[in-house]
Amino acid sequence: MRQLPTPLRKALSGHGAFPDAAAVRRAAERLDPELLRALLASPGLRRRLFTDVDGVAVFDRAAFTALLDGVTGPNDGVRLIWPDAGARPSVGATTARLANARRHTADRVETVRHADDGDNLLVKGENLKVLGSLLPLLHGGVRLIYIDPPYNTGNSALPYEDRLTRPEWLTFMRDRAEVAAQLLTSDGVLLIQCSSHQAAHLEVMLEGVDQLHKVMVFHTLVRHPDRALTAGKQFNDVVEQILVFARDRHFRMPRRTRPRRLDDYRWQIEVTGPGRPMQLGGRACTVFPGGEWTRRAAEPGADNLRSHSIRGSLREKNSSGRFYVAHIEPLAAQLGPGTLVRVPDIGDDGLGHRFFHTPRTGTKNGTYFQGVPQSTAATTLPHPNFLDFHGEFNRVAAEGGVDFRNGKKPEALLKFLLEIFTEPGDTVLDYHLGSGTTAAVAHKLGRRWVGIEKMDFIETVTLRRLCGVLAGEQSGISGEVGWAGGGGFVYAELN
Ligand SMILES: C[S@@+](CC[C@H](N)C(=O)[O-])C[C@H]1O[C@@H](n2cnc3c(N)ncnc32)[C@H](O)[C@@H]1O
Repeated sequence: MRQLPTPLRKALSGHGAFPDAAAVRRAAERLDPELLRALLASPGLRRRLFTDVDGVAVFDRAAFTALLDGVTGPNDGVRLIWPDAGARPSVGATTARLANARRHTADRVETVRHADDGDNLLVKGENLKVLGSLLPLLHGGVRLIYIDPPYNTGNSALPYEDRLTRPEWLTFMRDRAEVAAQLLTSDGVLLIQCSSHQAAHLEVMLEGVDQLHKVMVFHTLVRHPDRALTAGKQFNDVVEQILVFARDRHFRMPRRTRPRRLDDYRWQIEVTGPGRPMQLGGRACTVFPGGEWTRRAAEPGADNLRSHSIRGSLREKNSSGRFYVAHIEPLAAQLGPGTLVRVPDIGDDGLGHRFFHTPRTGTKNGTYFQGVPQSTAATTLPHPNFLDFHGEFNRVAAEGGVDFRNGKKPEALLKFLLEIFTEPGDTVLDYHLGSGTTAAVAHKLGRRWVGIEKMDFIETVTLRRLCGVLAGEQSGISGEVGWAGGGGFVYAELN
């Protein structure tokens, strides 16, 4: 009940049918009489959530959602509502158990009674039930969930079901996402790959799942735009979406950096005159007219300076840019073109000062010179929201040594995602495992993995591929990460 706003918590305390915000939300969706009676019994909630029409109290579901979301979600109470069968699976209470467990290593297979904590796990079974049975084992311990579910394109030629109605598909996805969210660590993420067929509905639906908060969408090129598919198609689907949701509402993307390059550090400033003092922005600056200084190009190196033209976002988002705009630019006409200004105590390059100059004749923008920053040896880069993996998708058929048409994802894509969001030793889960790409990549990257697949091909395709990984198979990312085999996993079936 801790997640509920206080008035709701008080009104519903003692009602065992509403253990958390998700249960309360579902009860409201189906106009549950016990919930409505409890709300009506509170004079404050009656006033806030019901409208009196000719003596009949009419429930205002939008007002209720807004009250609930004041605590449970940042998406302004926007919810996707669709005709839903209503009856909800109670997965937490599943009695299904994993059976027929056997441990696979590179050189042996042995029957085991159960999986141990930290084992890699390959489970055959309907994923909602398996997720329910894994709740006690994995609760709050999974750093990344990646799924690549059937996109629901209406295609009947796939080895798995891909033709649900949209309401059925959304219900299917929501039921599993609600359980999956409970498995995530507090800094964990759920990534769902999908296509334009359902992406928009899926994204809005997921915003309504407690404990999931949208981070971003990776738009991913999976096919060359000119590569012809079936003749007669209106569109060639070349971009897919990977939705990124986090457990933490305030989730920040892990820092993306590259080692600092010195190519741009190729200027030296030589001052040849005495200059004159000038107070600018409370600092004791020195001003050198055009004839009292020179700028020389040099071989790139750590002792040189980098030149920045002060324009665009640099004018507002950078402290040197802001200093120039506030204190030097207004005096540019008075100082004259190409005047150098030495400003003390600015920047983190250890020089003790920073040089600026007013625009040279015929140019518009001022310039500043920066030495190599001392604080870090890396440059921080934003994450792009467009990924180009079409070359890897072209070559995917040969990966893993197994044939799995229409859905196998390239190992390079999974490596890219796992390396952004996880570290070695973290647990990775895929409950639509298919041919086993996520597990294969997690294994090669030293992550612990759990994979679930319901179809019989798990034995002939997925298991075979993962046994190959233990034996050191060399496709996909193997060469790049120096994979030589090893480790093991437990294979089990849902009883
Ligand atoms: C597109 S494929 C995943 C392909 C995978 N990413 C790969 O690289 O091989 C989707 C998989 O989800 C499985 N699936 C669909 N519904 C399921 C369910 N309820 N429980 C378990 N697996 C399911 C399908 O059998 C299919 O293998």
